[in-house]
Amino acid sequence: MVNVAIDGGVQEAQPDELLIDVINRTGGSVPHVCYHPQLGPVQTCDTCMVEVNGRLVRACATAVADGMKISIKSAKASAAQVEAFDRILSNHLLYCTVCDNNNGNCTVHNTTKLLAIEHQRIPFRSKPYEVDNTNPFYRYDPDQCILCGRCVEACQNVEVNETLSINWEDPNPRVLWDGGSTIGESSCVSCGHCVTVCPCNALMEKTMLGHAGFLTSLKKSALSGMIDVVKGVEPETGYGAILQVSEAEEAMREHRIRRTKTVCTYCGVGCSFDVWTKDRHILKVAPEHGPANGISTCVKGKFGWGHINSEDRLTTPLIREGGKFRQASWDEALDLVARKLSELKANDGPDSIAFISSSKCTNEESYLMQKLARAVIGTNNVDNCSRYCQSPATMGLFRTVGYGGDSGSITDMEKADLVVIIGSNTAESHPVIATRVKSSHKLDGQKLIVSDLREHEMAKRADLFLHPKPGTDLVWLSAISRYLLDNGLANTKFLDQWTNGLAEYRKSLEPFTMEAAARISGVPEETLKTVARMISEAKAVCVLWAMGVTQHSQGSDTSTAISNLLLITGNYMRPGTGAYPLRGHNNVQGASDHGAMPNMLPGYQSVNDPEVRQRFEGGWKVKLPSAKGLDNHQMVEAIHRGNLKAMYLIGEEMSIVDSNANYVADAFAKLDCFVVQDIFFSNTCRYADVVLPGAPSLEKEGTFTSTERRIQRLYQVLEPLEGCRPDWKITQDIANHMGAGWHYEHPSEIMDEIASITPMFAGVNYERLAGYKSLQWPVAADGTDEPLLYTKRFAFPDGKARLFPLSWIGVTDAPDSDFDLHLNNGRLLEHFHEGNLTYRTDGIKEKTPDTFVEVSPELAEERGIQSGTWVQLVSRYGKVRVRALVTDRVQGRELYMPMNSVESPVNRLTSSHTDPVTNTPAYKETSVHMNVLAEVGESPLPRINSRFGHPTPQNGVEVERKWKRPDYAPPGNGLVQLQTKS
Ligand code: SF4
Ligand code: SF4
Ligand code: SF4
Ligand code: FES
Repeated sequence: MVNVAIDGGVQEAQPDELLIDVINRTGGSVPHVCYHPQLGPVQTCDTCMVEVNGRLVRACATAVADGMKISIKSAKASAAQVEAFDRILSNHLLYCTVCDNNNGNCTVHNTTKLLAIEHQRIPFRSKPYEVDNTNPFYRYDPDQCILCGRCVEACQNVEVNETLSINWEDPNPRVLWDGGSTIGESSCVSCGHCVTVCPCNALMEKTMLGHAGFLTSLKKSALSGMIDVVKGVEPETGYGAILQVSEAEEAMREHRIRRTKTVCTYCGVGCSFDVWTKDRHILKVAPEHGPANGISTCVKGKFGWGHINSEDRLTTPLIREGGKFRQASWDEALDLVARKLSELKANDGPDSIAFISSSKCTNEESYLMQKLARAVIGTNNVDNCSRYCQSPATMGLFRTVGYGGDSGSITDMEKADLVVIIGSNTAESHPVIATRVKSSHKLDGQKLIVSDLREHEMAKRADLFLHPKPGTDLVWLSAISRYLLDNGLANTKFLDQWTNGLAEYRKSLEPFTMEAAARISGVPEETLKTVARMISEAKAVCVLWAMGVTQHSQGSDTSTAISNLLLITGNYMRPGTGAYPLRGHNNVQGASDHGAMPNMLPGYQSVNDPEVRQRFEGGWKVKLPSAKGLDNHQMVEAIHRGNLKAMYLIGEEMSIVDSNANYVADAFAKLDCFVVQDIFFSNTCRYADVVLPGAPSLEKEGTFTSTERRIQRLYQVLEPLEGCRPDWKITQDIANHMGAGWHYEHPSEIMDEIASITPMFAGVNYERLAGYKSLQWPVAADGTDEPLLYTKRFAFPDGKARLFPLSWIGVTDAPDSDFDLHLNNGRLLEHFHEGNLTYRTDGIKEKTPDTFVEVSPELAEERGIQSGTWVQLVSRYGKVRVRALVTDRVQGRELYMPMNSVESPVNRLTSSHTDPVTNTPAYKETSVHMNVLAEVGESPLPRINSRFGHPTPQNGVEVERKWKRPDYAPPGNGLVQLQTKS
């Protein structure tokens, strides 16, 4: 620690702590406009001038040193602060009372007040540019832009989409998109970082405009009139009096604008943020304090909430009668469900009924779903959609290190020297995690290796991009392990101390020579040796993988091969290392954690362990079944065989997202009783006998668990729409209609029950999760959690990891002369999965209206295809009609089709082949034949899609260019920069 004197008082500080942070931390007050703790020093505004040992410096760019004497309020410092802020006001019209940003957090307003500015010495000067309204979600008003560059810094160095810059050399600088495009036609991915950090109203969410203030919905002419009046009185009254009026208006807003913390409903990153609402209108999403995301979001979390107030929300239960649905009361629907399930249980036995929980629902809801199955019905037939994506990764980790979750946190991915991404389109499927990797790669020298079939954004950014043949990752990964062991590059100390099974594992590696790996995978031997070298030389390696690995017939084995490789190189147990299967849905981790699995009770406790069963039987006061139940793949087979008669499914679009969708839909049509709970009448609802209207995440309380095992609370933002019920209440209602006698009043009581019988969650409670607090499991009874797993031991009885021997079998459904093309599939940035939620946000639909199939330029030429050509894809299992998009993201005879379609779902083409260990469908092993149709339409991706933009990479805002302007001089005299941004 060092000591510094601030305006006479002595303060302790960390060496190298920024002066501005010390001042803010110790209760001091220095004006600052461009500084934001999550952006670091931007150094554009000059308002943070302070005197250090008699000389002026920027507090945001100056590191403390022992003995520093700092004055914030000296005459010299104060004059410089005011001079700097005057320059800012010359770029900004102060009309706070009629501004939608007048909500107590406007930096320009607050700094005007802090500096007690009464009159503007440099008059406001309008900029010769129009307001840009071309993005569906936000607008830019150049006249209000103070050129602080926060937005540029966020876009360039946090989001790393590299769209924004400022033309500092121009007589009238402004923020530019792609160097001068409209926002709508730029590379902007609408992640919202820039809008979130803008300190004033220059960038605003369109949902705020005209809605946040009491007077802001006035017509433009009336608004301009009022602004003129205010400007007219300013010379006489000064800003003090004017700000008092705006503050009175702001105080009135506090009573009608609610700010409620929630957790994103889309992917597994676990972004959390405040949602600002006025009645049911969503004003904006404000990320700031989220432990996983800070200021970050992607387009879905920031702007994708159109589903909440969508006209077609289900608001009443429906019962099928005479082939049609009719509306029913809750009592009638619940009675019917309870009666049907009771009859089937009595006549055909508990195992004639199955349950599918939702990975969109909360932990508490999944817990109740499996409790209903086990304790009320008496079956272990319960599963969730992690079967479709994550189970193989979990299996790979269970086999080798013990816990089925990411071995560290997102911060570890940031810290790694080398990140290896395998089969994951991270920039689109886990966008905020991608920002952390992109940023470390761009700014901190992190190395990046990407292995994938497609050259997506992360692949383009990678230091090394591998394109192995489909389904061969296990081979090249194992060959690298063998190469490292054979060439003395393995971490033998780590292997000796922390692993079992080396000899047997080494033996299993015999077939995996570099030569064989190159032949089978198509990746040149030299490239594989480079990968091996990069891994062995890096101090800390993280491997990230996703469905490009898991959705193969050897998904579990390939996940195991990844973990084996990490063990061989000692890349566990330390910050910046480890295994990161990126979880897809917001709560796919939590659904499995909380027992929605056919073989596991909550906390991954086996159903056939008598001690475990006894504990749950004691808690639930029932006798529990011990035989493993059916997983969701087996459920479909059992329906076809006539063994499974009823299913209760929550919030899963299973008729589209399960593989071989036609076969699954045929099964649903055979059920005697099919209960579907959802917020919309989904495609799956078409097969239901009873449809129950649930509630989306914003309308309920509970917890989600993100990919980094982080448990976070969501608070109720809005009342459930009339007629809908939170899903945990519906499940409780069904249980109680069957005589269960449950009495949960609030999800916190459910969590207390979970903690009482699940050692992994022993210390979890709502108090410890209040606000933005979170816990990363396992959580000990005293509340200690584990952001980094395995710091002392692996999760096996002897504390040692297990190397797991593997062999390669080969792919299913390989191309042949009839089905000559390989079809890959996956997510898109803008849509989540099939798009049931995201298509209900107009702006997303405008940017990304439909699905498509990506065709390589060489195949397009061979077949006479252009973007917009309609093609029919025919597989061994079904066919779809879809427009082509010609792109070099795919190569040769490999196609890619995103999942975002209900009309032409890719899963009409995928097979029923599975990974035999977990029954996860081999979605990524599909071969098709392509018929080119005569019709040519518009390109399926409109010109306004971000993929057609041209980013302008640079390192942040490049303030040095501003400082070189002939009309720039630092405010005050004698500026000395002790430390400038590197
Ligand atoms: S990508 Fe677009 S929304 Fe995101 S920070 Fe850049 S300009 Fe802003
Ligand atoms: S638009 Fe960008 S440069 Fe302009 S005020 Fe907002 S954050 Fe600052
Ligand atoms: S979808 Fe994922 S990355 Fe996007 S805001 Fe939600 S949690 Fe964050
Ligand atoms: S806060 Fe803007 S230069 Fe320091």
